[in-house]
Amino acid sequence: MDKFSIATVVLACVLTVCVGQTLSFGRCPTVKVQQQFDINQYMGKWYEERRFFAIFEAGMTCVSAEYTLQDDGSVKVNNTGYRRLTEKYSSAIGDAIVEDPKEPAKLGVRFSRYQPRGDYWVLETDYSQYTVIWWCTQFGFLNTQFAWVLTRSPEGVSAPTMSRIYDLLKGYGINTKNFSTTEQDRSKCPGR
Ligand SMILES: *[C@@H]1O[C@H](CO)[C@@H](O)[C@H](O)[C@H]1NC(C)=O
Ligand SMILES: *[C@@H]1O[C@H](CO)[C@@H](O)[C@H](O)[C@H]1NC(C)=O
Repeated sequence: MDKFSIATVVLACVLTVCVGQTLSFGRCPTVKVQQQFDINQYMGKWYEERRFFAIFEAGMTCVSAEYTLQDDGSVKVNNTGYRRLTEKYSSAIGDAIVEDPKEPAKLGVRFSRYQPRGDYWVLETDYSQYTVIWWCTQFGFLNTQFAWVLTRSPEGVSAPTMSRIYDLLKGYGINTKNFSTTEQDRSKCPGR
């Protein structure tokens, strides 16, 4: 391997493989984000209906996200999940900002001041039922992707709505087989 390939593999390793994320070959697909994104309507509580595998969420069930608009225009992010292993809820508190006002549906989110922001792109939302979030990073000839479907109701959305969401993602070449459903059953989410 030449120096560049080694560097790429090491970087990919640091960012993904070694933390358990799946890599795909090729470039990040080109996607469209929600037009005329209204951040006010987007605030409030969402339940994670399904997600791509992400090591930082491994073993987490009953995941919810609460978004609160702050006075400075940034969004407070509170991701809460239940770990069956420890039988405890834990929260990750972060903040999200619109990085370019011309592209309001493209947010950058971080959970530590010392971390670079990760992309949080809203591909499509109707604000009242569902939102589709996506993130892709490319290194050389590899990419890694995360996708989430969050819903306002812990019961999710209707089958036709989910099938429309799948069609949207498949249309961009995103592999919907990588989704797994997040447990949101009240009986398995203590205290809910
Ligand atoms: C985050 O949300 C959880 C669950 O709703 C709540 O118990 C916790 O107090 C919140 N934390 C912050 C810092 O807002
Ligand atoms: C999706 O799954 C396929 C095979 O099941 C795998 O090759 C690919 O790397 C996965 N992609 C992501 C982004 O997880």
